[in-house]
Amino acid sequence: MCGIVGYIGEKNAQEIIVGGLRKLEYRGYDSAGVAVLTKDGLSYEKAKGRLAVLEERLEGNALIGNAGIGHTRWATHGKPSDENAHPHTDAKTKFAVVHNGIIENFLEIKEELIAKGYTFVSETDTEVIAHLLADTYNGDIVATAQKVVGRMRGAYALGIMTEHEPDKLVAVRLASPLIVGVGNGESFIGSDIPAMLEHTRDVYILNEGEMAVLTREGVELFDAQSGEKIEREIFHVDWDLVQAEKGGFDSFMLKEIHDQPQAVRETMGARIHPETKKVVMPELKMSEAELKAIDHIYIVACGTSMHAGLVAKDVIEKLVRVPVEVAIASEFRYRDPIYTPNTLVIVISQSGETADTLAALREAKKSGVKVLAVTNVVGSSVAREADEVVFTWAGPEIAVASTKAYTCQVVALYLFALYYAQVKGTQTDAQIAEITEHMLQLPGKIADILKHTEEIRVFAEGIKDVQSLFFIGRGLDYAVTLEGSLKLKEISYIHSEAYAAGELKHGTLALIEDNVPVIALATQPDIFEKMVSNIVEVKARGAHVLGIALEGNTELAKSVDQVITIPETLPILAPVLTVIPLQMLSYYASLARGNDVDKPRNLAKSVTVE
Ligand code: G6P
Repeated sequence: MCGIVGYIGEKNAQEIIVGGLRKLEYRGYDSAGVAVLTKDGLSYEKAKGRLAVLEERLEGNALIGNAGIGHTRWATHGKPSDENAHPHTDAKTKFAVVHNGIIENFLEIKEELIAKGYTFVSETDTEVIAHLLADTYNGDIVATAQKVVGRMRGAYALGIMTEHEPDKLVAVRLASPLIVGVGNGESFIGSDIPAMLEHTRDVYILNEGEMAVLTREGVELFDAQSGEKIEREIFHVDWDLVQAEKGGFDSFMLKEIHDQPQAVRETMGARIHPETKKVVMPELKMSEAELKAIDHIYIVACGTSMHAGLVAKDVIEKLVRVPVEVAIASEFRYRDPIYTPNTLVIVISQSGETADTLAALREAKKSGVKVLAVTNVVGSSVAREADEVVFTWAGPEIAVASTKAYTCQVVALYLFALYYAQVKGTQTDAQIAEITEHMLQLPGKIADILKHTEEIRVFAEGIKDVQSLFFIGRGLDYAVTLEGSLKLKEISYIHSEAYAAGELKHGTLALIEDNVPVIALATQPDIFEKMVSNIVEVKARGAHVLGIALEGNTELAKSVDQVITIPETLPILAPVLTVIPLQMLSYYASLARGNDVDKPRNLAKSVTVE
């Protein structure tokens, strides 16, 4: 995720800001920039690449002043480049802004500003804010920022400054995290605590919809909508730097699991129309006629991304009635696949750099087949080479074991499937709206699951010494069991297998004996009874069964040893929720075995070799 730093005080702002950005480097970024109020007015420097590139440019050309804002960008709208890097300014460089998150209605505002004669120099959604500030300014930056924020929909955090009012910085938070620090004669903005930890441990953690006005004398908090003043106690940070980087969690994986409500919200962001609840995908270049003509889809990916593909297969086939085949990229690339003239290949890759996936993409393109990529990294090889890209906007994932990237891939693929169904007319508007309305509730439901993980922790402690365990499910549940089992293997090193529940009896049932743990997912009503029969089969052989069902299901408890319920949702959306307890299970099991949760043995985050 992008990093924001701001400083106002008596010291060298450029040094403090670049120092703060360095502390946020662990979050990942592709360009950086800084703006400072110098004696000649607002000045900035920004550069694609590492912070060292920015520092090189600043050498001999330092921005001298004691108030400024800075940013490390992780591209979402527009490729990594000097122009797209933040801060962004208005045409006269009177206002500067740094921004994290997404402005959902930026196109609408941009068009309006273009009609008024404003010109844009970047591809970002952020630039609209700078122009809108200039357009709205009435001599009071706080009131202006309030008005501007009132125009914008989305999930974002902002740092704002203007040459007109050199003794103030403004910070606003809507969904994306933002922190302001209080020092002695100085104040700080940071997207994360590490940005300011060297200078102050006294901070305010902004809540959603809050605005902070920073001066050298201190910080005042307001409601960004009503302008009403907010009183808040200072939070004294006693974390060390390493803890602070993980947002106070003890591993990046745990932090990323908890990032999921926000990440999923960002994936849906502008893609679900607020009124019609239809899906909008302006990023797709292919015409509706081209999309309609597709008669066969291959989904190609590796690891966790392939598991997201398995969910997507069921969903696309159900909603659009077009056949989908999921292939492991390392197999697909040597397979001589059978393409029709209207085949679509969908490649899924968090990193966008996985060698096997990239090779499969190139093979498909060589055969003249259209490739759509679902990826998390703007500017990655997969994003650059595919014909079409749907970004997942999960934010950078640092832990090797993928969590939020998976849920966001699944959500992005639901959105694609719904859009496709809309275009093909295979679902009515009402059916689409029913699903998207339920999708909008997923972030809150993920957060609920994460509040109640004690039972899963106890279960994880109980399995820490077992030789092997089994995950079983049918249909969409089966797809999720594969991901649950992979997660457990990756970080706990406990052997497990995911099995299509109905297939157990054809061999694997021989491995079930007294006290073998079995985790049974049973969220799909149409096959629930069949699933119960399979659970009874393993119970009869002595298995200890943990069942996972949707809230309100009172039947499953009768056939299993213990049940964990997840908030009710449409069965088709259950994978986004059932995976959460499975992620937590692997996390707790890894912890119980004393493993390094973030860096499992033998594995790499991005595998760029064949
Ligand atoms: C590696 C990672 C996995 C990931 C797979 C595919 O093996 O350890 O977590 O699922 O690569 O990565 P991608 O970046 O293509 O999604």
